[in-house]
Parts: sequence; C-alpha cells; structure tokens
Amino acid sequence: MQVIYQELTKRFEETLLESLIKNEKKEEFENIRKNLINQASKEEFGDYQCNICLVLSKIYKRNPREIAIEFVQKLKENKEISNLCEALEIAGPGFINIKLKNNLLIAKIKSNIKCPRAGVPLSNNNSHSQKKVIVDFSSPNIAKEMHVGHLRSTIIGDSIAKIFELRGYTVLRLNHVGDWGTQFGMLITQLKDLYSSDLREIDKITISDLVEFYKASKKRFDNETEFKKRSREEVVKLQSGDKKSIKAWKLLCNQSRKEFDEIYKILNIKIKERGESFYNPFLKSIIEDLTFKKILVEDQGAKCVFLHGMTNKEGNPLPLIIKKKDGGFNYATTDLAALRYRFRKEPHGDNATRIIYVTDHGQSNHFAGVFQVAKRANWIPEDCEVNHVPFGLVQGIDGKKLKTREGDIIKLKDLLSESIKRAKEDLLKRLEKESRFETEEFILNTSKVIGIGAVKYADLSQNRITNYQFSFEKMLSLNGNTAPYLLYTLVRISGINRKNNMNEDAVNSESIAYSHDLEWKLIRKLLKFDEVIVSIEKDLMPNRLCNYLFELCQSFNRFYDQVSILKVEMNTKISRLTLCALTEKTLKLSLELLGIDSLERM
Ligand code: ARG
Repeated sequence: MQVIYQELTKRFEETLLESLIKNEKKEEFENIRKNLINQASKEEFGDYQCNICLVLSKIYKRNPREIAIEFVQKLKENKEISNLCEALEIAGPGFINIKLKNNLLIAKIKSNIKCPRAGVPLSNNNSHSQKKVIVDFSSPNIAKEMHVGHLRSTIIGDSIAKIFELRGYTVLRLNHVGDWGTQFGMLITQLKDLYSSDLREIDKITISDLVEFYKASKKRFDNETEFKKRSREEVVKLQSGDKKSIKAWKLLCNQSRKEFDEIYKILNIKIKERGESFYNPFLKSIIEDLTFKKILVEDQGAKCVFLHGMTNKEGNPLPLIIKKKDGGFNYATTDLAALRYRFRKEPHGDNATRIIYVTDHGQSNHFAGVFQVAKRANWIPEDCEVNHVPFGLVQGIDGKKLKTREGDIIKLKDLLSESIKRAKEDLLKRLEKESRFETEEFILNTSKVIGIGAVKYADLSQNRITNYQFSFEKMLSLNGNTAPYLLYTLVRISGINRKNNMNEDAVNSESIAYSHDLEWKLIRKLLKFDEVIVSIEKDLMPNRLCNYLFELCQSFNRFYDQVSILKVEMNTKISRLTLCALTEKTLKLSLELLGIDSLERM
C-alpha cells in the first residue's frame, strides 16, 4: 500500500501545516515530518498510526490529547482523507489510529492481482536519470576454497540484486574475484617446477586439486629461500605482461572458475566475473590523484591515508595503506580503483548510482576506510551512494566453526548435496506414509528445490548481522519459518486451483466482498507486500521479506483452515479464490526474489 501510504502522508502533512504548525515552527517540522505516519503497532489498531501529537505536545507544551482532537477534526474536514480513511481514532495519550476504507483495499487487491509485480511500484526511474545499481557479491579467490562466507555473500547478494531488478533498476552483478596479487608468483613458480620449466605443454596441464596445489606452493614459499626469490621475480614478470606468465595465470584462473561455476550452477546464480586484475591498469592513477589532492602521505616508506575518526588501540588514526613499502598495491587500492571506475561515466566506467558490497562483517573497517578515502577524494558523485552489507559467521549447532564430523572444513558442494540428500530422505518417508507413487524425475526435482531452497532460506531469514547456526534439521523442517513451510503453503494453494480453474475475469467482478475477520487479516497482510520490498531497498535486509512471508503464510493457512472456500455461494467463492490467487502470486514472486524455485506438489 505504498501509494496509499504516500498519499496519506501527503494529506496529513498538508493538514498539519495548515492547522497546527505555526510559522515559526516550520523548521522543526522539517525534522518531525519524516515519521509522520507509521505502521500500526498492533493489527487490531488499524492500518497505520500517527504519533505526531505527542511530539507536538512537547514543542507547544500542550496536552497531546487536546492536540489530537483538534488535529483529527481538521483531518476529517479534508475530503481526500475522508475518501481514504474509514476511521481516525484517538487512543492512549494521543495516538491517532488510522483505518483505511474497505473498498479501497478491495480495489487494491484487484489491481495487484493483475500487476506482474503483485503491486510493487517501479522506482521513479525516468530515462534521464536511469539508476544503475552494482551489487558486488560472492567474490571468491582464485586457487583458494570458496567457503561458507562466500556462500552467504552469494545468496544474500543474489537476492538483493533481484529485489532491485524487480523495482526496475538496471543491475550489474559483479564478481570481484581475487585473481591478482603476489600469491600468483609462487603458484606459477610451482607450476614451472612441477611441469616443464618453460611451460611448453601448458594447455595439457590439469591440476586436480588447486587448493592442495596452493598449500604445497605456500609451504615451499615459506621454507625455501630460493623458491621465494624466484616467486618474487615471477610476480614482476606477470605484472609486466610476460606472455608465458599470463598464460600460466589464466590456466590457474580457469581451473578455479570451473569450480566456482559448478556452485553457481547448483544455486542458479547469474553473475559477471570482473576480478581484481581488471582494475590493475587504474591503480597508478589512484596514487596520482590522491597525491594531487594532498590526501596521500608517506609513512615509514609506505604511502597511506590517515583515516578520520578511526583509531587504533593507542588512539592514533588508522592508516589505509595504498602502496606498500615494497611498491606493491593493496586490496584497498584495488577497491578504490574499482569504486572510481564504477561511478565514472561510460565508456570509461559503469556509470553506477549505487554500489552495494556484500561481505562478512570482518571487512567492515576495510570498507569504512575505502568509502572515507573515496569521499575525501570526491570519487562518489552527488546523489550516489555506497553501502557495505555485512553479515555474521556461519556456525555449527555447537556455536563453533562449521566442520565435518572428522573436523575438516566443509566443502560447499558437499554441503549442498547433503541438504538435497536429506530433503530426498524426508520426501521418500512422506511418500511411503501417504502410499503415494511419484516418478524418479519428480523425486529428484522436488528434493533439489527443497534442499537448495532450505539452505538459501535459512541464510536469508536470519538478521544477516548476527552469526547464524547452520542446522539441516531446522532448515528442512515443515514447521516454522523455513522454505519447506512456505513451499507447503504454495502447494496447498495449487491444490485449490487444481480443483477450481478460476476465471481471470472473475477478479473484476463487482460482487467481490469480504465479511470474515480472517479474510480481512489476510487482505491487510497481502497489501503490505510492496512496503516490505521498498523498505529492503533502503536497509538491504532481506530477512524482512522472509519474516513477511512467514506471516503471510500463517495468515493464509488460518484462513484456509477456518474459512470455507469452495463450498459456498458463487460470489463468496470468487471473492475467496481471489485471495488464494493473490497469495499464490505474492508467494511465488517472493520465492523468486529469494532465489528459490516454486513447486506445485511436494
Ligand atoms: N575476495 C574477497 C574475499 O574473499 C571479497 C571481495 C569483496 N568485494 C570487494 N570489492 N572487496 O574476502
């Protein structure tokens, strides 16, 4: 009800300015107008709530209830407001509870059912100010394991990207792969030692386990001085564009990419790889520009920026190191170059208006530093913004780091297969209990959708900032705030549809009407969908959508259990089927936004 909400806010503001706010207080009004109307704190209070009279009472030193009586009277005189509101009731010390008109809600239900976005408005995006959002997510490192932190980033980043896409933004999904840096010196040297020293047969080399390969070369790097020396020389060669070194580097990247792609395929993730190496040509000009702007200082041979408001334990300002003592660039240098490139106009940049970075919260200081330097260097254009979307750790049920029974790090592929396997076991048990027969294809597909959906949902439904405990039992349960519960609700609706082919035209019917309390509860829930989506765009918390869906499904299931849908007279039946249809649409669309496939049966 975003549109109604905005309209209501506008009218309330108008009335407030006309009646209550004296001229000299207009400035203060600018501050309080932001939260003029809020969600009702309890459903039974109505749709919205206005607490402004309590604020005004402090400013004017007047009884808040008196102000409320005066304000409500004025509000009632406003024709637009009477068209929107059924009731404006004063409660408690001076809250105003707002209840919207039933016919307004029914009209909205009808229009949402026809809208491909189930009522979510497009962002105000005209062609002149096309908004482009970059979501930087997943971003594993070449020759290293893609770990659960990357899994979280992948799942959360994908969902955020989808929400922006639905709102009509142009979204660029970027995989900022760690594909550059000194570690390639030792990797290539190791390649040369194990295969031919001039890498003649490079095309034929396949490394079965890149992570093991990495470990072995790291060990040599730490223990053999001669190997270390050659590795350092190799870095220089690579950076100067030596053909053989580049070829070896590409081989390593391709190998890793294959492994990453396998995970993306299982998770059905679309993302464009643009690794750190892409920004290599722009690093030098970062130094030049920061020097020119007098932000860069030399400290103990390194070039760095001292950060404002960020200090170490001794209370000294923290440095963001841009160029190391040995002349090498840092992770932060690449991020600065990437940020600048992304905001720059095409064709020398992406022309983005917002960049969203999804990583674990261990990188919060890194991004705070990068953003500060970028701001001070004026690389973030006006009206543009950057956000770091931090998330907590994934833990086992014991609260410790997630491990296999043998104590090893869990491989992502194994983790996902395990979830599918368990979903399949549950399904087979259910089939046996219900003496149902299903094809092998059905069983495979259903367990995959449930298994993968459960992992994604478990991750997304948490407040991302806290650590979360990974439990197959919990996430695969049919009860509670889980993917299987949502899918099960969807399957229930599909069941009704199978018994009843609802005619689309029926939705237009004038005779749609509701009388049952549980119908109205469901209607009000359904109409909150767009507000939830719009709020996620602001605070980037996908768990809001999950919480909403859980409540929506609970609301629907109560309605389904207690209100007769099919065995009632025609108009009532059409009215109730309309609610089923909109619930189905909202649920399917939301699952899509969370990267979860839908099921008709399970
Ligand atoms: N490769 C990094 C890591 O594994 C994540 C990169 C995140 N994106 C960025 N622009 N820094 O921790």
